[in-house]
Amino acid sequence: MKILRTVAELRQWSREERNDGGNTIGLVPTMGALHAGHASLIRAACASVGYVAVSIFVNPTQFGPNEDYARYPRTFEADCALAKAEGADVVFAPPVEELYPDGAATFVEVEGLSQRLDGASRPGHFRGVATVVAKLLIASEADRAFFGQKDAAQVAVLRRMVADLRLAAEIVVCPIVREPDGLALSSRNLYLSQTERTQALALSRAVRQVEALVAGGERRAEALVAAARQTISAEPDVRVDYTELVNWATLEPVEIAAPGSLFAVAAWVGATRLIDNTVLA
Ligand code: PAF
Repeated sequence: MKILRTVAELRQWSREERNDGGNTIGLVPTMGALHAGHASLIRAACASVGYVAVSIFVNPTQFGPNEDYARYPRTFEADCALAKAEGADVVFAPPVEELYPDGAATFVEVEGLSQRLDGASRPGHFRGVATVVAKLLIASEADRAFFGQKDAAQVAVLRRMVADLRLAAEIVVCPIVREPDGLALSSRNLYLSQTERTQALALSRAVRQVEALVAGGERRAEALVAAARQTISAEPDVRVDYTELVNWATLEPVEIAAPGSLFAVAAWVGATRLIDNTVLA
């Protein structure tokens, strides 16, 4: 497995492997601190395209001024070992100045969608995500890019961006990977103390509860949202950021749940903000 540091190297690799159109290229964009959720993305990529690049880049523009950019976990050696074991051909790990050259002034803003869900509580976050993913897709010339459903609002923003910019890549979304007790895997779970780790289960509990209510015939967003809020608030040290039922494509709230509606939650467990969701059957 090769480790590449520059856009020029990544583009050259992609063009060589594509071999006059005979092969397909996959990209798994990550910020590192890889876990079993990322491993599932790499496996899905390897099963679906000829050559796979995993990018590892803690993207400064998607963090707010008071967020965790500086202390975001950086575990490069272990990440490379995992990427290799899962079958990746390349790790692309550029320095910041490679993706944001001196004087960089170009950003991708997906209007509307970027202000909803996580975008409402993290202003500028999706502008940073859209910008870096556009750079990575352009640099890698990937045919397919793989993302986890856990970041469901991110998926909606990126699908819109790819459609609007007429980018060649297809966005592939892979299921949420959970711990046996239900906690959705996240690199930020590393921040949780043992007590917080237990409290964090309130999010997946709320998600499962909504699934059960829908299976039992409840369709009203008001009732689903209220039930989830109550479940999360029952954990005294967990603070709800949002619980919403939305159309997954537009992230606009819906009043009645329909197949494909996205039920999403975000909550603070101590100083750590976690998210979880389900796409209704
Ligand atoms: O989902 C993530 O880890 C990041 O938002 C992404 C897509 C790698 C962009 O930095």
